[in-house]
Amino acid sequence: MSRIVSTASEALAGVVKVPSDKSISHRSVIFGAIADGVTQVSNLLEGEDVLATVSAFRDMGVEIEGPEQGEARIAGVGSSGLKAAGRELDLGNSGTSMRLLTGLLAGQHFDSRLTGDASLRRRPMNRVVVPLQEMGARVETVDGRPPLDIYGVDTLKGIRYHLPVASAQVKSAILLAGLYAHGRTTVIEPTSTRDHTERMLSGFAGASWDRKGPVASDAAVVLSGQSLTIPGDISSAAFFLVAASLRRNSDLLLPGVGINPTRCAVLDILKLMGADIQVSRERVESNEPVCDLRVRSAALHGIDIPAEFVANAIDEFPVIAVAAAGASGITRIRGASELRVKESDRIAAVVQGLQQLGVDAVEYPDGMDITGGSFVSGSVDSFGDHRIAMAFAVAGCIGEGSVEIREADNIRTSFPDFVPLMNSAGLSLEEIS
Ligand code: S3P
Repeated sequence: MSRIVSTASEALAGVVKVPSDKSISHRSVIFGAIADGVTQVSNLLEGEDVLATVSAFRDMGVEIEGPEQGEARIAGVGSSGLKAAGRELDLGNSGTSMRLLTGLLAGQHFDSRLTGDASLRRRPMNRVVVPLQEMGARVETVDGRPPLDIYGVDTLKGIRYHLPVASAQVKSAILLAGLYAHGRTTVIEPTSTRDHTERMLSGFAGASWDRKGPVASDAAVVLSGQSLTIPGDISSAAFFLVAASLRRNSDLLLPGVGINPTRCAVLDILKLMGADIQVSRERVESNEPVCDLRVRSAALHGIDIPAEFVANAIDEFPVIAVAAAGASGITRIRGASELRVKESDRIAAVVQGLQQLGVDAVEYPDGMDITGGSFVSGSVDSFGDHRIAMAFAVAGCIGEGSVEIREADNIRTSFPDFVPLMNSAGLSLEEIS
C-alpha cells in the first residue's frame, strides 16, 4: 500500500493538461463496442477503472487496440455481437463499469457474472437491479450487492421509470437495457444528473444533441462507429482549482476541460465561495462542451451550498470540503447522503480526516459543517478512496506542515499521474511505497 506525503507548497503556476474524463471514457468504450464499425477514441483515460471496462469488452469478444497515449481503436461488434465472457468479469473499484454493464448485459442472450474489489462489493446494486427486473431482466445479487449474476433473456420490455435517487449510473444502466427492449424506455429524474450517456447515444445514433428531448432509448436505435475526443475531467481539474485558489500568488491555466452543465457545479460553488476562475475558449467537441479554465488565488469564504448544486458536483465534495476548511467562516453541505455510498462513506471519511488535521468539522446524516481555519500536520486515512486521497493531498499543500495520506493506491483508478502532475504545477507531494 503506498502513502502520499504532502507538504506546504509553492504557488501553483503554469499550464496543466488534466486527465481525460472518466465518465465519458467509460461510455465511449461501451458504445464503441456495441456500435457497427470502428470507433476511434482520442484522449481516452488510461486509469484503472476505464481499463476494467476495456478488459471486460475484450473478454466479450470485442477487439480493442490500445489505449496507447490515449488512442484506442474499438472494432464494434454491433448491438447483438457480444459473446459470453466465459469467466467472471472483474471490474475492480469501478462502480460505473459495474452499473452500466449490468444494464447492458441484462438484455443479452448469454449469462454473465460481475464482481469487483472489496469496496465495489459493498456498494448498493438494487437501485439498478430493481428497474431492470421490472423490464424482465433476471439478475441476482448477494443481499443487494455484487457479485451479480445476470442470466440471458430473449428480450426486455420498455418501461417508464421514475428514479428514486438522482443517479447517472442508474439512468444509464436503464437506457442501455432499453436498447434491448420492446417499446420505449424512458427515465424521469428527480433532478438532472450527468447526461453523457444521452449525448453519446445521440452521437452514435447520428443525431445532434437535443437537451429538450426526453431521456429515452429503444431497440430501433442503430449505433454507428464514431471518432471521439474525450475532454479533460472537471472532477480532476477540481483538485487544481482548490489548490490554486488557496495557495497564495497562484495562477494556473487548465486547457480543454469539460464543462457539461450537468457536471460543473463545482465551478458555481467555488465562485460563490469567492474563487477567481475564468472560463474561456468555450467550444463543443464530440457533443460535449469544453473550455479552458484559468484559476488565480483568492480569499475564499464559507457558504451554505445551494441544494440545487449537489447532484452536479457529487464527486467534488471531498475537495470542496478542503476548500471550506481553508476558507473563512462556516460552510454547510446538506442533501448529500449519496456521498455515503461512493467508493467510501465520503461524509465520514472527510469529517474524520479534517478532524485529524485540527479542523472543526461536524458530521450530519446528509452532509457536514466545516469551520474554516488552519490545518495542523497529521496522518489521515483515505479508506482506499481515490478522491479522499487526492483531496487530502491538496489539504497538505495549503497548511503549514505536512499531511500523510494512507492507502493512496487507488488514485490510479481515475488519475494515474496525480503526483507528478501536481508537482509540475508547484505542489510538494511524495509517494512512498
Ligand atoms: C457517474 C455517476 C455518479 C458519479 C460517478 C460516475 C457516472 O455516480 O458519482 O463517479 O459516470 O455515471 P451515481 O450515479 O451513483 O451518482
